[in-house]
Amino acid sequence: MMRKPRILAFAGSTRKDSYNKKLVRIAARAAQECGADVTVIDLKDFPMPLFDEDLERAEGMPETAARLKNLMVENDGFLIASPEYNSSITAVLKNSIDWVSRPVPNEPPLVAFKGKTAILMSASPGALGGLRALVHVRSILGNIGMIVLPDQVAVPKAFEAYNDDGTLKDSKQQGAIEGLGRTLTTFLQMHIA
Ligand SMILES: Cc1cc2nc3c(=O)[nH]c(=O)nc-3n(C[C@H](O)[C@H](O)[C@H](O)COP(=O)(O)O)c2cc1C
Repeated sequence: MMRKPRILAFAGSTRKDSYNKKLVRIAARAAQECGADVTVIDLKDFPMPLFDEDLERAEGMPETAARLKNLMVENDGFLIASPEYNSSITAVLKNSIDWVSRPVPNEPPLVAFKGKTAILMSASPGALGGLRALVHVRSILGNIGMIVLPDQVAVPKAFEAYNDDGTLKDSKQQGAIEGLGRTLTTFLQMHIA
């Protein structure tokens, strides 16, 4: 029997009440209901220094980065909700990618990313919903060997978008985010060995 796809879900924000953490939880639940094994993590639990090659040479990869990398290696795909900071990716997300992208001896390059699949979403208080950041996240992940599925959703005016239980007030938006979780799961069901 085919094994269940394994999906890692996270937001590019460490903020306690992050709109993007709420968003990725919606997609994660839908992916789980569709048959995936989903692990939701908070990058707040993986604090790491700003990437610095001198620091890497002197001290190696921080334990938190190694832990995140192992999780990424173990999973077939990622659900990523990325906030938009100054029209682009957040420092915490880029810094995590930079650390995780570093090889250790006898390891294939970009082992945590190559051949894996991601789907992207964003939420922001602004009118574009973080769409401009997704262009950059898509480009970065594609350039390190990931398949980034074409579907994506940006939720604007995030400050008024959510119910108290974390669902989206707009049922169409809620359905669209759930659809991302299902799309990634279905894609992986068709493509994993
Ligand atoms: C440094 C900084 C830059 C920001 N730049 C943008 C921006 O370019 N576009 C945008 O829509 N929101 C921008 N914002 C607002 C964020 O979208 C907002 O803080 C959002 O809540 C962050 O996502 P989170 O709720 O998941 O933490 C910026 C916020 C910060 C702190």
